[in-house]
Amino acid sequence: MPLSDADIEEGKSSSLHQQRHFSNVVATFRKYSSYHLAANNRRRKDLFALPQADQVLLDQLGYKKKLDEVDKAISANEQFLNQIVVDPEIFGGDEDVPEEEDEATVPDSSSHSHSHSHSSHSHSHSHSHSHPPSHSHSSRKEYKPTAFDMDKLRSTLKQLVRDWSAEGQEERETSYGPMKEALLAHFSDIPEEERRNFRVLVPGSGLGRLAYDVASLGFACQGNEFSHYMLLASFLILNKTERPNMHTIYPYVHSFSNLPDRASLLRAITIPDVEPTLPRGSVFSLVAGDFEEIYGKESDLNEPQAGLWDAIMTCFFIDTAKNIVNYLRIIHKILAPGGVWINLGPLLWHWEDNNTNDPSVELDLVEVKQLARMVGFEIENERTIDATYTTNSRGMLGYTYRTAFWTAKKII
Ligand SMILES: C[S@@+](CC[C@H](N)C(=O)[O-])C[C@H]1O[C@@H](n2cnc3c(N)ncnc32)[C@H](O)[C@@H]1O
Repeated sequence: MPLSDADIEEGKSSSLHQQRHFSNVVATFRKYSSYHLAANNRRRKDLFALPQADQVLLDQLGYKKKLDEVDKAISANEQFLNQIVVDPEIFGGDEDVPEEEDEATVPDSSSHSHSHSHSSHSHSHSHSHSHPPSHSHSSRKEYKPTAFDMDKLRSTLKQLVRDWSAEGQEERETSYGPMKEALLAHFSDIPEEERRNFRVLVPGSGLGRLAYDVASLGFACQGNEFSHYMLLASFLILNKTERPNMHTIYPYVHSFSNLPDRASLLRAITIPDVEPTLPRGSVFSLVAGDFEEIYGKESDLNEPQAGLWDAIMTCFFIDTAKNIVNYLRIIHKILAPGGVWINLGPLLWHWEDNNTNDPSVELDLVEVKQLARMVGFEIENERTIDATYTTNSRGMLGYTYRTAFWTAKKII
């Protein structure tokens, strides 16, 4: 079945604040090109400010031509990103929303920044993370995307490589591969045609590839994601793909650091590597919203979340918790008796050192596993898996996470 209609449901909370955030995200997509062309123009200006003799040498290297090629790549990215927000229908559009009187103004620098993706010029463990920053602006029509917003947009382009390109296959194999194997092993006595009776939840599903793959295996699968960047981009891929490789993007064109050659800067990636269709009768959805709000609260008495899920697959997710105790409690509560929790990921606590006054509990791996046992899990199949996350495989800098993999049974 095509994935049209249906498949991105809105979670329960849709506050004014979230609508405003959504509107800012859409503005960020729309201003991608002017922001990045200006950044590239800075290079041009710096070049023209050099002594003439230096300019001549750099010209012989083709540096100016390289800048022109980067402009073209940015324009190609713009065309792709505009398709994502041409009609931001999944949240009912991006109409202007009134400003809240009492919202605090938070300068760019206050948005703390932690995610598993590394900006190519970052040497440290500094990352961007998907929690809505609260920015206040006097005129909604004049929203000026921040460096933080643009970093998230660039991360989305790299995430598209991870989830939906042939280049990302190796990275997916490393992380999603063992998780899918564990899922199939847990349900090995279930005939394939009966898999659709088993519900699998993928919290923090990013651009949705793992959830889609699980649905392709025949399970009833639901992804959950709260980043508007991720939701908008996955909506385009899942619902608007007409043929494989229909889009060409240039995800590595934004930083000139740690590149061995020009080709690695201007590397074109085509997406998606597959046409994301599912057989008729497949059960697949993405639910937009916060994991704790959606799965941690009982609101629909006809279908309580408790015991609802036969498998929960957390990939690079558990360290997004402010309070890991609550994450583990929810995972335990919503898992069916005999259900399996499959985890793979590092412990890059996303809220560590935040300056938004959010709480953050940061455990080491031994503590996380001990906590999981205390909450009522029996951990099995533990191992360490070396995995990359949105890495530029042609760059001169690469990070490898020594991720923790396990499967866990609910025993209490
Ligand atoms: C590091 S990414 C991993 C994405 C995907 N699982 C993968 O392996 O590519 C973590 C994802 O969790 C999402 N996320 C973080 N906190 C969340 C929450 N409380 N509820 C739902 N999604 C959340 C982020 O927006 C991000 O897409």
